[in-house]
Amino acid sequence: MPKKKCTIVVLAAGKGTRLNLDIPKALAPLNGKKLVDYTLKACSHLQSDLDLTIGFVLGHGKEKIQAHFDSLYDEKNIKIATQDVQNGTGHALQCYLDQYPETLDQDEIIVTCVDTPLITSEIYDLLINSNKEYNATAISFMTSSPHGYGRIYSEGSGFKIIEEKDCSEIEKEIKEVNSGLYIFKSSYLKKYIKSLDNKNKSGEFYLTDLFKFEENIQALNYKDEKIFLGINTLEQLELASKILNKSKVKELRNNGVIFKDSDNVYIEDDVDIKKGSVIHPNVFLYGTTKVGEEVSIEPGVIILNSLIEKGALIKAYSYIENAIVGQSSFVGPFARLRPQAELGENTKVGNFVEIKKSVLKKGSKVSHLSYVGDAEIGERANIGCGFITCNYDGEKKHKTIIGDDCFIGSDCQTIAPVKIEADSFVAAGSTITKDMPSGSFAIARSKQVTKEGRAKNFLKKS
Ligand code: UD1
Ligand code: CA
Repeated sequence: MPKKKCTIVVLAAGKGTRLNLDIPKALAPLNGKKLVDYTLKACSHLQSDLDLTIGFVLGHGKEKIQAHFDSLYDEKNIKIATQDVQNGTGHALQCYLDQYPETLDQDEIIVTCVDTPLITSEIYDLLINSNKEYNATAISFMTSSPHGYGRIYSEGSGFKIIEEKDCSEIEKEIKEVNSGLYIFKSSYLKKYIKSLDNKNKSGEFYLTDLFKFEENIQALNYKDEKIFLGINTLEQLELASKILNKSKVKELRNNGVIFKDSDNVYIEDDVDIKKGSVIHPNVFLYGTTKVGEEVSIEPGVIILNSLIEKGALIKAYSYIENAIVGQSSFVGPFARLRPQAELGENTKVGNFVEIKKSVLKKGSKVSHLSYVGDAEIGERANIGCGFITCNYDGEKKHKTIIGDDCFIGSDCQTIAPVKIEADSFVAAGSTITKDMPSGSFAIARSKQVTKEGRAKNFLKKS
C-alpha cells in the first residue's frame, strides 16, 4: 500500500516578544538544544510510516534559523515558507499553503507550533491515528491554569476555540484548552483556509478559527497536561527545562542509575549512563556525554561531550570537556580535562591537574598540581608533583613524548618539542630541554651551595 502523503507545518515565524530575548523563539536554548530541535525530533519518526514533508513558516530571525538547519540537518528535506508580517497563526498557515500549493493535494496536513517542545512522538502517532473519521482534530487538555491558552468552547455538534483575549469572564473559567497541535484533511483546509478573518481583539488571523465551521471535527482531550506546555515566557522555558530533566532522570533511574539527590542534577537529553553508576548532587552532564557501568561521579562535577568508561571515579569539583576517561581510572578532586585529553585504563589524574590534547596511557599517573598539554605519556609512567609541559613558544605548540615506565620527579618541566624514551628517570627539579634515549637518567638543576653558619646573616633577629 502506498504511504499516506502528509505535510507537517511548523509555525515558527513569531518573534517571541514575551521571551524578551534577541534571538528568535525557535532558537531559544533548552537543555543543550534549541526549541526547534525538539519539534523536529518528535515528528521525524513519522517519516517511516508516512510520505512526509516537513515544512516551516519562518519570519523573525529567518536567516539565523536557516543557518541552524544548515548546520544540523539535511535542509533539502525541510521546506521553508516566509511570513514577512506576523498577522497570526492562521495567516502563517496561509503563507505556507500559498508558497507550496501542492500541499493541498496531499492527504492530510499536521500543524504544530515551535514553542511546544515537550510534545512527544507518541502524540504525533495519536494525532495521525485519531483523525480517520474526522475532517480535523485539535488536541486539547485540561488544566487548572488555562491563562494564555485558547479555550475549547463546546457548541452544537462541534466546538469553537476562543482565544484568551476574546474570552468573556465566564469563558475564561473554561479549563479545557487548545494545545496548538492539529491535523486537517487537505480537502477541509482547501475549503476553509481562505475564509479566516481578523475580526477579533488582536486583529490577527487565528488558525484556531478553522474549527468554527462545525463540520465533523473533534477536540481530542489528552490527559497529560505537562507535555503541552507552551513556551511564551522565560519562566515557562525554565519549567520546560525542569520537566525534561526530571523525565531524563526517571528514564536513567529505570535503567539502573543511582541518584543521591536527583532534584539537583542536570542531565541533557543525549547523555547516556549505564547501570550501577552513582550520581551525586550538583552534577552537570551535558551534550553527548556517555558514562559506563559502575562509575561514580561526586558532587560539583561538570562533564561535557565526554566518555567515562566503566568503573571510573570522578572526584568532586572536576571539569571534563570533550575528553575520554578510561576504565577504572581516578580523576580529581579539582581536576580539569580539556578537549582531547585521553586517559587510558587504570590511570590517575589527581588534584589541581590540567590535561589538554594529551594521551595518558594505561596505568600512568599524574597525581598532583601539573599541566600536561600536547603530550603523549606511555604506560605505567609516574609523573611527580608540579610537572609542566612547556608546550608553547609564543607562536606554536610543541609536543612532549614520554615513554612507558618513565619516572619523572617532582617539579620538572619539559621544554617541548622533546622526547623522553621508555624506562628513563628524570631527577626532581629538572628542566628537560634535550631528548633522552631509553633507559637514561637526567638531572638538570643548578648545583647547591651550602655555607655553614651563614643562616644568621639572613634570619631576622628575634
Ligand atoms: C496559540 C493558540 C492557542 C493555543 C496555544 C498553545 C492561536 C491563535 N492560538 O496561542 O489557542 O492554546 O497556541 O500553546 O493559534 N506564529 C507565526 N506567525 C504568526 C503568529 C504566530 O508563525 O503570525 C507562530 C509562533 O512563532 C509560535 C506559534 O505560531 O510558534 C504560536 O504563536 P503564539 O503567539 O505563541 O500563540 P499563543 O498565544 O501561544
Ligand atoms: Ca505560544
